[in-house]
Amino acid sequence: MPKITKINHIAVAVSDIESSLAFWRDALGLELAELRDVPAESAQIAFLPVGGTEVELVRPTTDDSGLAKYLAKRGEGMHHLCLETDDIEAMMIQLKEKGVQLINEFPRTGADGKKYAFIHPKSTGGVLVELYQL
Ligand code: CO
Repeated sequence: MPKITKINHIAVAVSDIESSLAFWRDALGLELAELRDVPAESAQIAFLPVGGTEVELVRPTTDDSGLAKYLAKRGEGMHHLCLETDDIEAMMIQLKEKGVQLINEFPRTGADGKKYAFIHPKSTGGVLVELYQL
């Protein structure tokens, strides 16, 4: 059985990374560990580690992505919760068997080699959930 092992990160949708960093980095004092573009997701992301997990800031870089539409409709705020698993393929099969609606049929692989996939909020009580396998 695949296991969920930890909360990898909590993501906040933002319209401007720099102005968000005024709070997360400058006021709270968190370290900005990573800032990069993710063309595959039409997003720019920032990671700020805290206590074994991370805060992720995500900003859309196009107008037509799911993230851009989310931001236009709901404004800035909590966007997704990312759970780490020891076996993402097995976890996705298990979820499908339980009738859980997935956004990605198969895991995607990031530039850093991490595998990830999103679970539809319809199946999770309204929370967009991301799965990660390192
Ligand atoms: Co994420």
